[in-house]
Amino acid sequence: MSENPATPETAAAAADVTAAHAPVTAAPPARPLGATAASAAVPRRGAPMFPDGTGPAADPAGSHHERRIRSFQPRRSRVTASQAEALRRLWPTWGMDIDGLSRLDLDAFFGGLPVVLEIGFGMGEATAQMAAADPGTGILGCDVHTPGQGNLLRLAERNGLSNIRVANGDAIILLREMLAPGSLAGLRVYFPDPWPKKRHHKRRLIQPEFVALAATRLAPGALVHCATDWEPYAEQMLEVLAAEPALENLHSGYAPRPEFRPLTRFEGQGLDKGHTVHDLLFRRRG
Ligand SMILES: C[S@@+](CC[C@H](N)C(=O)[O-])C[C@H]1O[C@@H](n2cnc3c(N)ncnc32)[C@H](O)[C@@H]1O
Repeated sequence: MSENPATPETAAAAADVTAAHAPVTAAPPARPLGATAASAAVPRRGAPMFPDGTGPAADPAGSHHERRIRSFQPRRSRVTASQAEALRRLWPTWGMDIDGLSRLDLDAFFGGLPVVLEIGFGMGEATAQMAAADPGTGILGCDVHTPGQGNLLRLAERNGLSNIRVANGDAIILLREMLAPGSLAGLRVYFPDPWPKKRHHKRRLIQPEFVALAATRLAPGALVHCATDWEPYAEQMLEVLAAEPALENLHSGYAPRPEFRPLTRFEGQGLDKGHTVHDLLFRRRG
């Protein structure tokens, strides 16, 4: 995905931070049997971003070494100096790694607020706007994209938002291993990667297994809100969500765009290309 451009001043600092997120051992990471060279190039599982052991960890649950199709590409992204500074300072309080090792205490993490999970917040601008508009709801933003994590923390601090937390890693592992059944007040997936090539369709996040898993983590009445500008993916979303018995569509077919969803970065890019945007609003049955 696109990132904030680094200024010449930030470039050197950013390069240092990127290097710090690389494997910290001199030896190459162990390559699991059958792993490809591409997967072995991924940073060592759990390596922290900063040399002092803080910041979001690289691949915290080791999902790049799981034999599973993922909805994102493993890659090392450059962070700007300001994103790195936000991560260094704010991550210990507002960030968490999705290591898949323990159950997350949402009540403690959000001070008792009802919590909505947003998967794939990108650079986080829309997330910050939604958090500002609804301070009584906690937003657990989940993404693997380090620059976006830093950007969202920066936006939260700048706007005095205390209802945002950032989860680093694969949303599937967060849902599967770390969130209790019935614990979420909502789920948002805005403009997930469309994976347009046929051979990549299996990478799309909105699949029957994902929706079935997510539905178990939703409280009765919780809203599932998806949006996409990719027509074939919108059709897939509608089909898959409608087929999940635990969910009911709030509209017949696509939903009118709700006022509470701001324009997202990817949505803007889609609109510039003349794409039509579809929203989908479903509710967890009681
Ligand atoms: C196309 S971007 C959309 C970003 C943003 N919602 C927007 O509309 O501008 C999709 C985002 O989903 C993230 N993503 C994809 N699969 C994910 C997963 N399994 N867990 C966490 N984040 C994921 C990607 O890293 C990327 O930032």
